[in-house]
Amino acid sequence: MSEITIFGARPLFGNITPSGSKNAALPIIFAALAVSGVSVLYDLPDITDVRVALDIISDFGAKIERDGRRVTLDTRNVAYKKPDKKLTSRIRASSYLIGACLSRFGEFDLSEVGGCNFCNRPLDMHLYAAEKLGTKIEGERLSASRLSGADIKFNKISVGATINALIMASRAKGVTRIFGAAREPHVKNVIRYLRAAGAEICDSADALTVKGSILSGAEVKIIPDMIEAGTFLLLGPLTGGMVSVDIPKDAGLESFFEVLSDSGISISRNENIVSAWGEPFKKIRVSTSPHPGFPTDLQPQTAPLMARYHGGEIIENVWQDRFSYLNSLSAFGIKSDKIVGGRRINPSRIGAAECEAPDLRGGAAAVLSALVAEGKSKIKNTELIMRGYADIWAKLRSLGARIE
Ligand code: UD1
Repeated sequence: MSEITIFGARPLFGNITPSGSKNAALPIIFAALAVSGVSVLYDLPDITDVRVALDIISDFGAKIERDGRRVTLDTRNVAYKKPDKKLTSRIRASSYLIGACLSRFGEFDLSEVGGCNFCNRPLDMHLYAAEKLGTKIEGERLSASRLSGADIKFNKISVGATINALIMASRAKGVTRIFGAAREPHVKNVIRYLRAAGAEICDSADALTVKGSILSGAEVKIIPDMIEAGTFLLLGPLTGGMVSVDIPKDAGLESFFEVLSDSGISISRNENIVSAWGEPFKKIRVSTSPHPGFPTDLQPQTAPLMARYHGGEIIENVWQDRFSYLNSLSAFGIKSDKIVGGRRINPSRIGAAECEAPDLRGGAAAVLSALVAEGKSKIKNTELIMRGYADIWAKLRSLGARIE
């Protein structure tokens, strides 16, 4: 178990360029398995989850060449094999093997998926989409002699199920319409890759319409990580400093900016550079929802900011209960109460503490707490944080954080 020591209460100043988006990079790596050809991915982040995803596809025979942030995936000579549970159980994104393997090989054996276990994370919608496109499901064995286009009607918005449906529909015979699809920027990045690979995908208000084709290798640039950008922006107001991030207008952070500026925090944009500083003058209210709403992956990191100033409320609408990270934050003195649909975060004196990162985003929230706490804090199990934040310690040090 790796650990870091943080000497907090130092105002942080500076500019950060976020790495490539984890939640875009991972499905694109698996989508490349559904494609026969050579794909080039630019700005692939160097994080643990990406390394595991690359190991998983190389297990099927994909050849991978990494040259810094540019990665070439050659999936011309791949063959189906039962996925290795030791690898798939390490990342949640291995669920994208459902779509990739069914479209490329016509078969898949469900394997344990991993990732953050902050609550129950079912796969029923992924399987519903596979079934609609002609997959036979017998226990854990999935088979489809040829996927055929169909109408898929999701009754809830799921990033993962939408992407799996897109991967399958892109190689299926005929036309698929996906109703109730997720439209997160990372879903759009996957669409850009599949289009470049040869799929015809039309995004209209009510549905994503996909005409399946033979897919071949393609080039794609991974978008900047909106969650990393949001996490770093919080550091300005949190530590009494000012942090800027390089993030485009369509990054999907508008609701996040709105919540911060409604509370009195200053947010400015100059072309692609967004800066955040100043104190909130009232409670911060967060209510998560799918894009274009406030991203659930940024709610844990707002808790220390609420606690430091006037408190706040977090209503979680994407996951049933995503608050177990508050147990770790309580070590820093952050106090919270249960309310209908979420938690109230009370104004608290944040003090140095030792804790274990509970999961990826909860771990980031613990780092933010340690950065604002007076004295020396220790965070253990930092592997979980490295799953999703590339070069996080170097980036924090560049802002003036003291981290050992
Ligand atoms: C992805 C992200 C995750 C983020 C989430 C929401 C990856 C690897 N992970 O997760 O970081 O928090 O989007 O932006 O990209 N659901 C079902 N049945 C299913 C699938 C989902 O009921 O088969 C429900 C979930 O329980 C949840 C909601 O749908 O309530 C949203 O989940 P989903 O968008 O699928 O999350 P992931 O794709 O797993």
